[in-house]
Amino acid sequence: MSMIYRPRRLRATGGIRSMVRETVLMPANLVYPLFIVPGTNVKREISSMVGNYHLSADNAVELAREAYALGIPAVLVFGLPEYKDERGSSAWDMSSPVQQAITAIKQAIPELVVISDVCLCEYTSHGHCGLIHGQQVDNDATVPLLAQVALSHAEAGADMVAPSDMMDGRVAAIRASLDNSGYSNVSIMSYAAKYASAYYGPFREAADSAPQFGDRRAYQMDPANSREALREVALDIEEGADIVMVKPALAYLDIVRQVKDEFLLPVAAYNVSGEYAMIKAAAAQGLIDEPRMVIESLTNMKRAGADIIITYHALDAVKWL
Ligand code: PBG
Ligand code: ZN
Repeated sequence: MSMIYRPRRLRATGGIRSMVRETVLMPANLVYPLFIVPGTNVKREISSMVGNYHLSADNAVELAREAYALGIPAVLVFGLPEYKDERGSSAWDMSSPVQQAITAIKQAIPELVVISDVCLCEYTSHGHCGLIHGQQVDNDATVPLLAQVALSHAEAGADMVAPSDMMDGRVAAIRASLDNSGYSNVSIMSYAAKYASAYYGPFREAADSAPQFGDRRAYQMDPANSREALREVALDIEEGADIVMVKPALAYLDIVRQVKDEFLLPVAAYNVSGEYAMIKAAAAQGLIDEPRMVIESLTNMKRAGADIIITYHALDAVKWL
């Protein structure tokens, strides 16, 4: 049989495959999330996300150091506060665990990029991402509070703030409040296309942020929509976002690709808790090859267009590269 082009020629050996490989995942592509709790010397495994921990600020510094030593350039910090109320006021309290951890990490490892998640759901008694009026989340009453949270993170030393609330207009308000207070160098990674997803289930336990009534469908996006994602991204860019995120990742790689093709800003993909937990559960049952599946999944997020991948697998993944 004679064929002019035989694709298998370039798959014949590991050497040849490495020469024609189009996408190579690097530690520098990854961001490692950390969950900060009150106290000292706390390191408790999160049962819904085995291999991830609730960490007091001191232990968060140690894990951040490990990530940095492995070549991971950034951490994304989430806070579990000492107290919750209707307004989520512990979210901008400088003595709350996350603000303390930001300062401690930046002091110990100045070169590590510290990104902070900006939202209210971990801090409100009702678990919603904004202020409740009646049964609704009040967009415009929430936005100034988010700006205050972002400012408190910048004051603590964060390099980048990442609003995950999905209120309209929050990126502009955060940009203005940072600029007015002398933090024009603090960048914004916006959760621009964030879907109302069942894949966040395990995170709700990790961050103690489940809504006490209703759901988030009146502010997070409908998973059925892609054109709307492009409108969301365009808006956040107009408002001053520096990096735009698509979340979740694996079931939304078409969105990652469209955002990458349509806009010129760096694109982040969030490999969320449910995606992580599915691989961990299948691996624990001996059903899959965990290292191969993790590297394959993360590489494909990059192939789809993600410059930055936020993942709970980060520490393992760099060891498996
Ligand atoms: C809070 C927030 C959530 C996640 C990141 N920030 C949960 C939610 O919106 O309900 C999800 C992360 C994950 O599942 O890994 N706004
Ligand atoms: Zn939230």
